[in-house]
Amino acid sequence: MDNSIKVNVRNPYEIYFTSMESIPTTLASITSQRNIVLIVDKNLEKNHLPHFLKSLKNMGFNPSVLLIHASEKNKSMKMATNLINKILRLQINRSTPIIAFGGGIVGDIAGFCASVIYRGLPFFQIPTTLLAMVDSSVGGKVGVNTRQGKNTVGSFYQPKAVFIDVAMLETLPSRDYKSGYAEVLKYSLLFSKDYFKYLDSHYKLFLDKNQDYLMNIIKNSCGFKAKVVEEDELETQDVRFLLNLGHTFAHALESYNNYKPNLIHGEAVSIGMVLAFKLSANLGLCSTENYDKIKEHLTNIGLPVAMANVFKRINTKKIIKLMSKDKKNHSSHITLILAEDIGKCIVKKDTETVILKNFLDGAFNG
Ligand SMILES: NC(=O)c1ccc[n+]([C@@H]2O[C@H](COP(=O)([O-])OP(=O)(O)OC[C@H]3O[C@@H](n4cnc5c(N)ncnc54)[C@H](O)[C@@H]3O)[C@@H](O)[C@H]2O)c1
Repeated sequence: MDNSIKVNVRNPYEIYFTSMESIPTTLASITSQRNIVLIVDKNLEKNHLPHFLKSLKNMGFNPSVLLIHASEKNKSMKMATNLINKILRLQINRSTPIIAFGGGIVGDIAGFCASVIYRGLPFFQIPTTLLAMVDSSVGGKVGVNTRQGKNTVGSFYQPKAVFIDVAMLETLPSRDYKSGYAEVLKYSLLFSKDYFKYLDSHYKLFLDKNQDYLMNIIKNSCGFKAKVVEEDELETQDVRFLLNLGHTFAHALESYNNYKPNLIHGEAVSIGMVLAFKLSANLGLCSTENYDKIKEHLTNIGLPVAMANVFKRINTKKIIKLMSKDKKNHSSHITLILAEDIGKCIVKKDTETVILKNFLDGAFNG
């Protein structure tokens, strides 16, 4: 397989599969700027940042570092304003690169800041979680959460390049590692039954953190994502919308839980995808066997598959309210991605809230 994937959007860019040591050389070939701003996940400060800074300086870069504690609470306007002010106080110009070095939270907020400072500074992503490698670093969605919901303020702002070093995953806590897998599986559920079968029969390689296998599924995921983004960069058609499989449920559950760390994003997506398949089976769109299969697969990975795995009880009325506030909804009906089969999903724009409430009332245990 090639060591990069091109994303052919209006301003095309490469996703490089590389090592941290090699990033400065490639970066120097893309930008002539030497003053750069790194927005870094605090959890990388000890293990990864010093080596990276050293290799950047060896290449002649002059990096300024801004550390952030990655949490959904911090993915906020308050934190973005704080970062923007700090960046503006540095020696920057309209070409100064902003580099996100962290997981999806750092990438989303750093990209948002880059998109608004001087109406857009060049932005680079170095994703360090599985979720960010397979999903959030590619495609240009950047933003923050507000009281009104998850990712409710943001923009489309593509990076100039994405650099992925799979070795970064060695220090990722097991729970975050598994959480990222939900987005890996999502591509198979949306686009390929054969790929689902492949993932299902190799899940132990994932649990063993087999490096070749990881590289393979990360490249495949980036390939799926790039193709979708190329077709529908600004999500004006249904094709990019499909990537929201499980997400309308997930975002409502995260918001309902007040973004507390006992339910992280990929875990919520895992529950959300199981709910989407269960609802699809209940509505007669797909077979119950499909639902059973994906539930079993996610259980084998060690991800939660039911609201009961996280909550003692739920208020379905509140969850429906949060779901209808999701930015994907244009009217009182709720838009959901539902399944006709594994590998074949549809955008369903007319699910009535009363049907959904009855469904959720009976789906607490998965
Ligand atoms: N923009 C998009 O298209 C898109 C797509 C999917 C998800 N998202 C967003 O991504 C966010 C979730 O991202 P995430 O799962 O990467 O979470 P995250 O950024 O919170 O990272 C998870 C945890 O891992 C730590 N961490 C990161 N890299 C590490 C490493 N290499 N070693 C040790 N620890 C490390 C972080 O400090 C954090 O505690 C959510 O806010 C979600 O909305 C965005």
